[in-house]
Parts: sequence; structure tokens; C-alpha cells
Amino acid sequence: MELRHVIESQQLTLPTLNALFQRADQMERVLARGGTQDYASRIMASLFYEPSTRTRFSFESAMYRLGGHVLSTERANEFSSVMMGESLEDTIRVVNNYADVIVLRHYQIGGAQRAAAVSTVPVINAGDGKGGQHPTQALLDLYTIYKEIRTIDGVNVVFVGNLADGRTVRSLAYLLGKFERVRLYFVAPAALQMQQDILDYLQRHNVWFALETDLAKVLPEADVVYMTRIEAEKLPASGPVPAVNPYFLNRAAMASLRPKAILMHPLPRLGEIDPSVDIDPRSAYFRQSRNGVLIRMALLASVLD
Ligand code: CP
Repeated sequence: MELRHVIESQQLTLPTLNALFQRADQMERVLARGGTQDYASRIMASLFYEPSTRTRFSFESAMYRLGGHVLSTERANEFSSVMMGESLEDTIRVVNNYADVIVLRHYQIGGAQRAAAVSTVPVINAGDGKGGQHPTQALLDLYTIYKEIRTIDGVNVVFVGNLADGRTVRSLAYLLGKFERVRLYFVAPAALQMQQDILDYLQRHNVWFALETDLAKVLPEADVVYMTRIEAEKLPASGPVPAVNPYFLNRAAMASLRPKAILMHPLPRLGEIDPSVDIDPRSAYFRQSRNGVLIRMALLASVLD
């Protein structure tokens, strides 16, 4: 497997996904024995221009577990020379002198691509812009489906929430489109539906999908429910009546989910999953966030080898 920059899901082939998952499985064993020192001389720079808890911490945790070192700025807009007007390209050229890999979250779609265009070390996209991509989240999401359901071919995945802006759902839809007989249901208010570029891609690759507004109707079909948050101000209000999120899962709603289905969420949640559901064994979102360390260890090791 040859991996250098990781910018968008479309670049990840089935053999690459397979190799990454095998390596993530190995990392589970590495973690169980407390990590490795195999990458002790390597340095990762994490440059985050937007807030993050899971992505930044799990990348940094992954690098430490591999024995490596981390240079980190969690508010690059304020705590770097960007404050003095430095371009992203110049920042990357300079960080190339200090690190062996750069993990970048940027507020503009295409930020990671711009960084990769000038970088002499691998750049990993940790999320770019509203409605851009988040390929490493998609990798850990797919890895979670692979671990929990044991197959990806033939799965029915119900995506719920703000699908227009959500970069995690966009990246995951691209990855799922590479598998056989998957069925994708996109459940959202019309204004927040999945964007046409993804639908066109799925059509070109003969992937079955449906656009829905009624979550209750499709829940019984799901092998995977992938919830995402909808900010209250994005919900359509009807006159003076405050907007209410119609896509809310509680224990009663979970009753219509298949016994072996799983409930996923990239997190953070905004109340679309009631905490009473957390103890349901089908709730996979905290296991999913743990898988982020394994897949990011596999990814870092692969681009550093
Ligand atoms: N899932 C995810 O990207 O979370 P963070 O914004 O906390 O990194």
C-alpha cells in the first residue's frame, strides 16, 4: 500500500482500505501491550484552524502510542503566524522543516489540497471547510462497521441530520460507494439534504440511495444508523413555533431498530440521541471514537513508512 497525502475519500482504493483495516487490527494488539517505540524518531505536527476534541486528541494519542512526538497548535488562527497574515502555504513550507507528517484541520474547502500541493511531507486532512471532507473520520466509521457488522458489502446505512454541511457523511458516502449492494438512505429536511455532487457520484457508481424526510419509516431497514447533529437554527421553523428536531432517537425509537443494527455518531451530539440510549449495546458511538486511535495509528504508520 502506497499512501502519501490523505486528502479525500475518493483516493482510497479497496486494497488500501483492506490494508489499513488489517493494520488497525494489529494496532489493537500493539495498544494492548502499551504501544511501541517503532516511530520514536518521528514528529507529527497537528495544525488545527478549527475546534476539535476527538480528531486532534486521537491523532496525538496515536502518534504517542507509536512512540513518536507531537507539535500541536489547536487554535492555529490565533496561536501561529497566521495572526500576522502568513499564508497557509508558507506555514506548511515552514512546518515541513520541523515535522515528518502534518495533520491539518482547515476552515476552507480545499485547505488540505492546498497544503499538500506545497508540502514535502505527507498531509492528512482532518476536516476541511463546511461541506468539505473528513476522510479519516470516514475511515474510522467504515472500520467500525467492519468490526461490528463483520461485512460492508450489502449493508443498509441510514444517514440522518444535516447532510448538506456534514463533511463526515460526505466522506463516508464516498467510501461506502466502493462496496457491493450497499443501500444508502439520506434522511434530512429538504434544505439540509445530501448535496448533488455526492448523489451524482453514487449514481455514476450504481449505488442504490433514497432521499427521505421520515426517520421512523426507514429505521426498521437499517443495519447502521449514522446520526449527525442539526443546529437548531438550521431547522425549518413554522411561524412563531420554535423549530423542533424531528430526528431524535430515544429508547422508544430504538425499539424499531433491528436487534443486530448499530447506532453511530461522529460526535459531538447536540441532543439528537437521548443519553438513556447509551447503555443499549447497539449504541456504538463511544466504541467508534476509540476506533479513531487504531485507524489513525495505522494511517500514521503507513504514511511514515
Ligand atoms: N468527529 C469529529 O470530527 O470530532 P471533533 O470535531 O471533536 O474532532
